Order: sequence, then C-alpha cells, then structure tokens
Amino acid sequence: MRVLLLGGTTEANQMAHALHAAGIDAIYSYAGRTRSPVAQPIPTRSGGFGGIDGLRTYLHAEQTTHVIDATHPFAAGMSANAVVACDIPLCALERAPWAVQENWTTVPDIEAAAHALPDIPTNIFLAIGKQHIGLFTDARHHYLLRLVDPPSALQANATAIIAKGPFHYESDLTLLRDHKIELIVSKNSGSDGARAKLDAARTLDLPVIMIDRPHIPARTAFATVDEVMRWLSHSADRGV
Ligand SMILES: NC(=O)c1ccc[n+]([C@@H]2O[C@H](COP(=O)([O-])OP(=O)(O)OC[C@H]3O[C@@H](n4cnc5c(N)ncnc54)[C@H](OP(=O)(O)O)[C@@H]3O)[C@@H](O)[C@H]2O)c1
Repeated sequence: MRVLLLGGTTEANQMAHALHAAGIDAIYSYAGRTRSPVAQPIPTRSGGFGGIDGLRTYLHAEQTTHVIDATHPFAAGMSANAVVACDIPLCALERAPWAVQENWTTVPDIEAAAHALPDIPTNIFLAIGKQHIGLFTDARHHYLLRLVDPPSALQANATAIIAKGPFHYESDLTLLRDHKIELIVSKNSGSDGARAKLDAARTLDLPVIMIDRPHIPARTAFATVDEVMRWLSHSADRGV
C-alpha cells in the first residue's frame, strides 16, 4: 500500500499522524503556498502536479495505491482533479460545514461576497485567506486581514495580522472589539478552530457574509480520521 495524502489542513496533519502511527507508507502533498508549512511525521512533497494529467503521471510513477484528499473544502480545483485522475481508490476526509445562523447572509461564491458589501463605510474582517483579497477593492471600507504569511503588498485601506489557526473565542472577541469590526466575511470552512470568530460575532451581534462551499464531484467521503483508517484497512483486506 502506498498512500498519497493531499494536505494543507489541520485534518490532513491529523491524518498524517495516524498513517505514521499505523506504519503505512504515505506521502503528504502540499500545494507549496505557505512559507513555513507544518512539519509532518511522514515524507512530504510540495507544489502542483500539473493538472489532471500531471497527477495521473505522478500516481503511476510513485506506484500510489490510495489517495486521501484532506484538502480544504474550498480547494475545489485540487479535489476535482483527484476525482478525475484517480483510477485507484480515492476518499476524502471532509469536515462538516457550519450550520446557518440568523446573523448570516449566505452567498454562493467570493465574487458574490464582494458585491454584497454595504454602501456605507464599514470595518470588515475579511477572513478568507490571501488568494482572493484582490476582489475587495471598494475604497469606502477598511479591511482587516488575517494571513499565514506577511503579504508582499497591502492596499492602503487594509490591515494585516499574521497568525495561524486554530483560533479561540476569547482572543477573537478581543480582535473584533479592538479593530471595531462591523461585518465579517467568511468561507463556510467548518472546523472548531475557524468558528471562534463566528461565535465572537454572535456575542457582539455582528452580521456575517458567509460564502457557500464550491461544488466538488461525487466521491467517497468520511468525516473522521478513524473512518479513513478503516476504509484503508478494508481495501487492503480486499487486496485493492
Ligand atoms: N482554499 C482555501 O480556503 C484554503 C484554506 C486553507 C488551506 N488551504 C490549502 O491550501 C492548498 C491550496 O488550496 P487552493 O484552494 O489554492 O487549491 P485549489 O484552488 O483547489 O488548487 C489549485 C491548484 O493548486 C495545486 N494544489 C492544491 N492543493 C494541492 C496539494 N495539497 N498538493 C499539491 N498541489 C496542490 C494543484 O495544482 P496542479 O493542478 O498543478 O496539480 C491545484 O490544481 C491546499 O493544500 C488546501 O488544502 C486552502
């Protein structure tokens, strides 16, 4: 058995520890976007595969027998490529989305979130990572960004704080108060560490623009590391 673990999330890190503890031959794959990725107990590789064909070539060259997609729920490109490229067993380790709250306005994608901002100047916590902040250019607003790495450039009406999750309720409450935040824009990522800001927003009665998850083609999916480990051992029993 040789596993490719598509990572870049807390869940993928937990999965890597479980694979290591079980003595399973596995490689952890990073996209290569962050400057200091978390160290892993299993070998790592970094960078894109080169689309569907590149992934297929990689899987064959590495004699991969199983793929576990533990990427972020918004990493839809990687996940869709894995579904198409895999002619070997594939499963996803997928966190549940957060349940809708009454202080949310739900929008289908990031572009829609940028269009849903208020007309009046607003202090906005833009909790969407770094990739799409360029869509939020409305000069009326001030944007608070929380990023893993310092940005190379920052628009004049933005403040960046550098921090890696998981985050906690008390500190997120302080953050929202200190920066006089009036609105939060968030992806429906799921997970406890990322929901601290939403719990703090409810306490302060702040509105949230919540971005729905992108579509990912149908695949076998599990919610816990233990279920994925059972899936691996069942397919090993069947000689897959
Ligand atoms: N999107 C988010 O909000 C978010 C949040 C936290 C963490 N992350 C993590 O950041 C990474 C990139 O996310 P994304 O949203 O940019 O993905 P994406 O848009 O789905 O992926 C774009 C391309 O990046 C490469 N890629 C993505 N994840 C990879 C991985 N784990 N290993 C190797 N190549 C990968 C692939 O390139 P090729 O086509 O060349 O193979 C993929 O087609 C993922 O590992 C994800 O788990 C994403």
